[in-house]
Amino acid sequence: MSSITTGIDRNGQPGGSRPRDLPVQVPLVTEPLGILGSLRNARRNVLELIPELATHVPIVSGRTGKRWHMVMDPESNRRILRDAVEDYPKSDVTKMILRPAIGDSLFVAEGQHWHWQRRVAAPVFSHRNIANLAPVMTAAADRASARIAAASGRAANLFDEMVAATFEVIADVTLSGGEGFDRAAVHDAINAYIADTAKVSPLDVIGAPDWVPRLRRMISTRAMREMKQVADRAIDTRRQDGARPVPDLLDLLLEGEDAKTGRRMTTAELRDNLLTFIVAGHETTALTLAWSLYLCAFDPAVQDRARTEAQAVLGARAATAEDVPHLPYIRQVIDEALRLYPPAAFLSRTALKADRLCGREVRPGDTVMLPVYALHRNHLWWSDPDRFDPDRFADPRSIDRFAYLPFGDGPRICIGASFAIQEAVIILATLLARFRFARVPGRDPRPVLILTLRPEGGVWLTVEPA
Ligand code: HEM
Repeated sequence: MSSITTGIDRNGQPGGSRPRDLPVQVPLVTEPLGILGSLRNARRNVLELIPELATHVPIVSGRTGKRWHMVMDPESNRRILRDAVEDYPKSDVTKMILRPAIGDSLFVAEGQHWHWQRRVAAPVFSHRNIANLAPVMTAAADRASARIAAASGRAANLFDEMVAATFEVIADVTLSGGEGFDRAAVHDAINAYIADTAKVSPLDVIGAPDWVPRLRRMISTRAMREMKQVADRAIDTRRQDGARPVPDLLDLLLEGEDAKTGRRMTTAELRDNLLTFIVAGHETTALTLAWSLYLCAFDPAVQDRARTEAQAVLGARAATAEDVPHLPYIRQVIDEALRLYPPAAFLSRTALKADRLCGREVRPGDTVMLPVYALHRNHLWWSDPDRFDPDRFADPRSIDRFAYLPFGDGPRICIGASFAIQEAVIILATLLARFRFARVPGRDPRPVLILTLRPEGGVWLTVEPA
């Protein structure tokens, strides 16, 4: 960072004791980086852009070409995400990165265009509809078990396995895997897009105003075009064939009508939103599962306790939606994995109006970042924050909701949160009931934040039958 001002440190000095036995983390920045250093680090790993101080103070501000603030304060988060949400739209970089892939869909749109899409999509994710889709998740858990069983006695990359499982789920519940829908093509297109996008960083925007044309050139338009064509074909086929007996997300969106205006989605709007669900929903959930498995291998006592619960509820069968309320400790493990390794670890907004956050002046045009990774490890709000301890979530009411933001909050909170949690509980419980996972010495994953917080090198664990 070229110049930094820190917020009020209510808890004394940064630093403190370091690794007793802590799960993997990346050392945060302790020296100002300068513009070039910031750009270099941001391309490699956005985590290396976050000052260590951000885990001790409520706000860190600076200027790297443009004024910016990193906010780790629950009260200010409530203001940015909920009370003054209109004054803090998603940042230009977020929109520019995502628009070529998912158009002006729910994730990206603002104002009235966001409102009406959210009204149409909200019922799609109702409790009943999500529970109806659970058999798809149970089947994916069974198929993942079969693949993992084949690796028994050896090490397997559980991140790859979880990506395969969550992709099966999202493909089945968005497009029911009908003819004309080539899963592999969509999967490849998304991966190519993410790889291209990974070349861009939040600092490109802050430091270099000419980044937009560069970004457009970088993003692989061919992969995007193919992905859109695949989705358009699937939508046309569905319009002809009619709804499935158990409606999937596409059926529900096709039926959806804005109660206020009567408006329905066009094919292009349907496609952009379906692709949004696929892009926003599958890797994030795979990461949640992969990090949960890593943490269970990291702490065998937690793993044994989770397994005992899963086996008592499930016996030999895979988990279903009805089991989810009976697997509270599995849920706590997932909540704690989402705290230590939040897949969406960095949210970004642009201030429209003059404001004050934590007593700091915010000017129109300032970039306001919510480094969720640093919020979740901030010593002001969490005791011994780097320690893995699922019991923190034994009583969810004890958690300050704006200090814990794996799904964001306010009107733009993740629409798929309950879907993702149901899927993660079903798959994690099924796997822990059936297998025992152990770390491979020297092969711990390294957390790298590009668009999402990924385990670099994969999550390699040895697998044994339980
Ligand atoms: C563990 C898995 C997931 C995580 C950690 C996650 C995280 C998030 C976060 C943090 C946001 C808010 C972004 C912001 O405020 O800038 C968000 C929004 C969103 N997510 Fe998720 N998500 C997950 C799964 C899903 C799934 C499964 C779906 C759909 C099937 C989904 C669809 C969306 C959509 C459409 C939005 C935009 C909502 C709006 O702006 O109205 N997500 N997600």
